[in-house]
Parts: sequence; C-alpha cells; structure tokens
Amino acid sequence: MRIAVVGTGYVGLVTGTCFAEVGIDVTCIDIDVKKIENLKKGILPIYEPGLEEMVMRNTQKERLTFSNDLASSIQGCEAAFIAVGTPPGEDGSADLKYVLAVATSIGENMNNYMVVVTKSTVPVGTAEKVRKAIEQALAARGVDIPFDVASNPEFLKEGAAIDDFLKPDRIVVGVASEKAEGVMKKLYKPFLMNGHPLIFMDIPSAEMTKYAANAMLATKISFMNDIANLCEIMGADVNMVRKGIGSDVRIGNKFIYPGIGYGGSCFPKDVKALIRTASENGYSMRVLQSVEEVNENQKSVLYNKIHSHFNGDLSGKTFALWGLSFKPKTDDMREAPSLVIIQKLLEQGAKVRAYDPVAMKEAKHILGDTIEYGKDEYEALIDADALLLITEWPEFRSPNFNVVNKLMKNKVIFDGRNIYEGADMREKGFKYYGIGVKH
Ligand code: UGA
Repeated sequence: MRIAVVGTGYVGLVTGTCFAEVGIDVTCIDIDVKKIENLKKGILPIYEPGLEEMVMRNTQKERLTFSNDLASSIQGCEAAFIAVGTPPGEDGSADLKYVLAVATSIGENMNNYMVVVTKSTVPVGTAEKVRKAIEQALAARGVDIPFDVASNPEFLKEGAAIDDFLKPDRIVVGVASEKAEGVMKKLYKPFLMNGHPLIFMDIPSAEMTKYAANAMLATKISFMNDIANLCEIMGADVNMVRKGIGSDVRIGNKFIYPGIGYGGSCFPKDVKALIRTASENGYSMRVLQSVEEVNENQKSVLYNKIHSHFNGDLSGKTFALWGLSFKPKTDDMREAPSLVIIQKLLEQGAKVRAYDPVAMKEAKHILGDTIEYGKDEYEALIDADALLLITEWPEFRSPNFNVVNKLMKNKVIFDGRNIYEGADMREKGFKYYGIGVKH
C-alpha cells in the first residue's frame, strides 16, 4: 500500500513515520526545500521522543521517503493526507489557504482513485471545501477521475505522539462512501491491536469531534484551576480534592491537574476557533468563553503570589525558573505560560535565570538575552531569591534539596505544577507556595 502525507510539520511527520513503521510505503511531501533536504539527512524540524530513530530506521528501509515534488509523489497512492498548517488568520479563525492549495495541487496531478484525507485540525465544513477544490482542478484539466474525501482528526499529544499514534485510544474517521471506508480500514488495521475502536462517522461529525475533544479537555483544566483557586481561599487542599473526585470513574483522574494554565499550539487555538464558529453561526459557547477567561487569568496566578510574597518589590531580585516549554518532553514554546510570567517579572525590574532540558534554544529565539540561561538546573539557582517551577519535567521532581538550599539566597519555592509536597518542603527549610494548597 502506498500513501502520501503532505506537510512535514508535527502531525504530518509523526503520521507519515508511523504509517511507514507498520510497513506502508510513505512519501512525506513539503514545499520547504531545506526541510526536505534535512529530513533526508535525518535532521528533524521538531523534537519528539523516539521520532528521530524511527525516521532513520524507515528511511533506511526505503519505506519512508521525502520529496518536494507532490506531482510525482502522489502517483499510485491510495490515500493522500493533508497535514499542513492552519495558522490563525487575523480574526482568529483557521486560515485554510495551505490546505486548499494542497487540495488543488492534488486535483491538478492525480491520475488514479484516491482518498484525500484532512489530518490538520480544520473547522467543520473543510473536507467539503477540499472536495470542491479537487473537483475544480479536475474540471480544469477536463478529466473525470473518481476520488473521495475523508476527515481523520489526530489526537496526538506532544511528547507522547508516537505511542499515541501506534496505540491509539480510538481512531475517528469521517467518510461519505463505502469505498473510502474500505481504504481507511485497511490503512488503520495494524493500529487496532489493542482492541480500541476505529470509529466511522459522517464527515462533519468527525471534524466536530476533534474540537469537542480538545474543548472538553481544556474545560477540565480550567474547571480544576477555578476549584484550586477557591480551595486556597477556603483553606482546602486541591491535591486532596483532586484525588477525591478523580476516583469517580465518571469524572476520571486524568487531566484534572491544576497549574498555571494550559498552553501549546492546540487548546488555546481550538477553544478560540470553536467559540468563533459558534458565534458566526448565531450561537454562543458560554462554557468555553469562561474556560478561556479562567485560563488567561491562571497564567498570572503564580506571579501574583510572587508579587505579594515580596510585597510588590521585585526590582533587582533574581528568579530561578525551571522549565520553559508549555509542558514537559517538548521544546514547544507556543502559548507557554512561562512567557507571561517572565514578561511580568521583567516589567518589574526582576532578573530571570532559566533552565529547561530541551527548550532553551527555542526560548532564546523568543526571549534573546532579556533573561539569563543556566547550564543546568542547579546553576540557575545560584543566589536566587526564589525558585519558580514552571514545567514539570521529570528531572525537576526530586532534585538534591540540600544543594538547592545551599545555592539559593532566599529559600522560597513557587511551584506552578504542585510537584512538591508543601509539608515536605517546609521541613526541608523552604517557604512553599503551590496552586490551590496551603502556604
Ligand atoms: C492536546 C491534546 O491532549 C491532544 O489529544 C491533541 O491531539 C492535541 O492537543 C492537538 O490538538 O493537536 P498537547 O497540546 O500536546 O495535546 O498537550 P497536552 O498534554 O494535552 O497539554 C495541554 C496543556 O494542558 C499543557 O499546557 C498542560 O500543562 C496543560 N494541562 C494538562 C494541565 O494544566 N493540567 C492537566 O491536568 C493536563
């Protein structure tokens, strides 16, 4: 079986590589010449655990190839996945120009039946636009080649993408013909070993499923952040409350960790897009509007604690900051809460010395030399007035606290992810602030 994946960003590269891993012949296509040159040499544009090795292995076996040439690469393919970017346009809605340009170019070049699958997160109705773009391109050529469109949203988490793809909780596919369903079934059969379902539905429902899933997860987080803030006011401990509610299977114990707000390239964008789609169609998503508002507010919660601990006098103080990326195991800095906190500290004349296991290069592109960078987590602590735990990388979970204690000038920890226990920290001689817990 042969397929093409257009777009070698995060989604496209993981999708293409994982399909190759199960023996499918995959060509990953991108218009970016440099990117394709690099991929051919095994240089990846993103960091994702395990991906580099998997790209190398499948390239060597010649099941995975990279190309700038869409026209020749799609010949003989049974499916072509569109996984190009959908950047937010000026008004916040997803800009479909790249998706539709790929659709047109598929229509201009295809010579056999194929299923054209949207894999990028796209608003409801996009697969229909893709179908029209292909039809127009075929009509302009004066040919009538049968094809189908399908919507196959991805649910990968950065940092765990390979596992998510190889062992998915579920695969959702929107189709409008039995033939397309047959092709998609064949493609995904190798990934259904763990008994989880491949769910077929109509195309608009598949498109909506993606947004509904992310919006529900974002809602869980904002809900817990709201509860955490109230716990603090009422003298309750959100860690206990979380355990207490999470053991109810209807609620579940995942994704109910309070923190400093959700970030990344998906939740903020998708929540906004869904609110917008609704309002454009005369409906108001009131829950999601609050989800967004709570999230914006939550990015300042840690800063407010810092501000009040130091009685508003942050000028000249040095803050050691552990973790820059929006979550562990990624170098992604998009919508990272760290950026909001750093900005606020710098505005007050404070100094920030940060360390992140993989995101420092990415952070330097954005922050330059407005902050200092430690060569490891301990160096970041030297003479610091406080430690700010921003991203819960595993290596920050149990540092040598004797060393931490010796290096810091002022023994204060602001834990934005509740990875430490307040009582334990106090015993070790630190003043401890968490989210939704007693000081
Ligand atoms: C998210 C979804 O989890 C994926 O299923 C989806 O495919 C992806 O978006 C997408 O649409 O492409 P991702 O953005 O990689 O994946 O990251 P998550 O692990 O979901 O974390 C998102 C944010 O929520 C992070 O900032 C994280 O710190 C925060 N979070 C997560 C919490 O604050 N509390 C939690 O309990 C869980």
